[in-house]
Amino acid sequence: MNIKVCVGSSCHLKGSYDVIQSLKDILKKYDVEDLVELQASFCLGHCAKGVNVRADGLSDSMKQKATTLEEDGSIILHNVTKENVEEIFVKEVYPLIEL
Ligand code: FES
Repeated sequence: MNIKVCVGSSCHLKGSYDVIQSLKDILKKYDVEDLVELQASFCLGHCAKGVNVRADGLSDSMKQKATTLEEDGSIILHNVTKENVEEIFVKEVYPLIEL
């Protein structure tokens, strides 16, 4: 699985850098650093709802467990901040990871 944090100008202004730093700590805390690749992304096209984070590279079983799936089989998480990123990760992403 890849987790891509938007670093487009709008999301950048809303705190992408802090979200990336927090996600690094969270991946370590939940011991999934080897299973998830954290990347920065250009604009994901949902600027009004930033910071946006996209999870892609999902296996079929991950897709089946996802609560909301984009047409291309990815997940896009909206309004992510350094304050809520752990809660969103635990709810939307961690359950999909095959340990
Ligand atoms: S700048 Fe992040 S979605 Fe456009």
